Amino acid sequence: MHFQWYPGHMTKAKRQMQEDIKLIDLVIELVDARIPLSSRNPDIDDLGKNKARLIIMNKSDLSDETRNQEWAAYFKSLGYFVVQLDARSKVGMKTVTNVVMDACKEKIERDRKRGIKNRPVRAMVVGIPNVGKSTFINSYAGKACAKTGNKPGVTKGKQWIRLNQNVELLDTPGILWPKFEDQMVGLRLALIGAIKDEILNIDELSIELIKILKHYYPGVLAERYSVDEAVEPVQILEGIAENRKCISKGNELDYSKAATLLIDEFRSGKLGKITLEFPKSE
Ligand code: G4P
Repeated sequence: MHFQWYPGHMTKAKRQMQEDIKLIDLVIELVDARIPLSSRNPDIDDLGKNKARLIIMNKSDLSDETRNQEWAAYFKSLGYFVVQLDARSKVGMKTVTNVVMDACKEKIERDRKRGIKNRPVRAMVVGIPNVGKSTFINSYAGKACAKTGNKPGVTKGKQWIRLNQNVELLDTPGILWPKFEDQMVGLRLALIGAIKDEILNIDELSIELIKILKHYYPGVLAERYSVDEAVEPVQILEGIAENRKCISKGNELDYSKAATLLIDEFRSGKLGKITLEFPKSE
């Protein structure tokens, strides 16, 4: 399978980010907890150097709890602050606020020593498309927060959302593009729905998903679709088509329908909490 992005968009987004990042103290980077590395663009490490760094493992309601812990430990070992989150629920937001304050302590301390008190820490949200940036900003900022409007010295048009006495958030997220050097990265992104399905071969994608599930989550397919997992992936897909009565007009099994169904059920969490990649040490 081959995936491609449009360099024009990427260049523009990167330039924008380079400008925005100058204005902030803290980078809040969202990754998808099901593919925490493949959903990152490592360029952000360079763009965000000398900034406080927080990684939010978003959509952790859909990923494997044990793997979440491993990934959180992995990112912490690299010096990031980490929060696991379901951005659609407000439950985790208190934790976010606390960790943001922790991540910014150094700056606050620096300000304090210079006699500057109560200067808010400025943050921005970054991440690849569809990772949950807008959802996160809405949940985190809530409705009650007033926008602070333009400020002297700030690029015209920038809006800051005052979150509390200590933190201001740039209201527009920075968009990063995933890196496609490795085809497995493209595959994982396609599986979670981060690439438009129209440009994908869903049948092929479903076979790859079956392989991964068979290997890392044995029993999941057998349980949900009453299929024998010992057979070849394409036969498993056939079993799913039979189980779900995916029949085409000519009364034949409709593999594409089964493939779409499997991928939809995976994406919506119906197959359970599943993580598709593991920290490098494995
Ligand atoms: P973006 O700004 O980074 O592009 O992402 P956005 O917030 O638009 O979110 C993309 C999709 O991911 C949305 O679903 C959103 O509801 C969903 N989402 C965001 N955070 C989480 C999370 O923590 N867990 C889960 N399970 N889903 C999350 P959508 O299908 O595009 O819209 P809708 O179905 O919510 O209407």
